[in-house]
Amino acid sequence: MFWSKPKKKQETAAVRVDERLQHIAFIMDGNGRWAKKRGMPREYGHTHGAATFKKIGRYCEKIGLKYMTVYAFSTENWKRPQKEVDAIMKLFDDYIEECFQEMEEDNVHFRFIGNLTAFPETTQSKMERIDRETAHKPFLLNIAVNYGGREEIAHACNALIREGKREVSETDIGRHLYTLECPDPDLIVRTGGDYRVSNFLLWQSAYAEYYFTPTLWPDYSPRDVDEAVAAFYGRKRRFGGL
Ligand code: IPE
Ligand code: IPE
Ligand code: MG
Repeated sequence: MFWSKPKKKQETAAVRVDERLQHIAFIMDGNGRWAKKRGMPREYGHTHGAATFKKIGRYCEKIGLKYMTVYAFSTENWKRPQKEVDAIMKLFDDYIEECFQEMEEDNVHFRFIGNLTAFPETTQSKMERIDRETAHKPFLLNIAVNYGGREEIAHACNALIREGKREVSETDIGRHLYTLECPDPDLIVRTGGDYRVSNFLLWQSAYAEYYFTPTLWPDYSPRDVDEAVAAFYGRKRRFGGL
């Protein structure tokens, strides 16, 4: 099966998270470089990156995480060569199809976040249906596609204008973000060696802990998750207090 019963042997959980770590968000970066290092086209890296995403998702569920968000495609990624964008869109389509066929068997609430209006209507309605029909599952997986933190905040403001608001609060904005019903990420992991946010979860990351690793996303493994989790538990979060 696609998620709960993978073809490969499942990793055993080496760590267990508690209520201090409920939500990890991943900036899954480095697919292109991973492929280039192997003399292959960038698309090859995305295919392997998609497999890594499924493996890491299964593992995060197993260690007791309640929420996971992955950055799969940004509002800026459309600038890439058409061939690469097409290959990524094909991977999304295949993934949505898999979710659609097998969603009943998993413990996962699949939610696609971002400006979904960029996708064909049939794809949008499949995304909505997968979200709705898995809404009772215990592990929420947000898949950020055509996602931009700035676009998300602007979208929330426009929704508030439509509601007739003349003044807005943080709570008002929060209830129109795509990550509604999901607590802010406790930990944001970026693979691929760059130290930047690249327009990911700008609002929600206010007090997130960041963890950066040079490992390229297709090489990212459950042991790397363990390392990030251990680093998180070594941090002291103060949220502005003492
Ligand atoms: C991340 O990997 C996936 C997407 C942005 C879609 P990249 O494609 O950015 O890979 P690098 O960073 O160029 O190696
Ligand atoms: C961030 O990676 C977006 C995703 C992982 C989907 P990018 O590769 O697009 O980020 P930059 O361009 O290096 O900042
Ligand atoms: Mg990149």
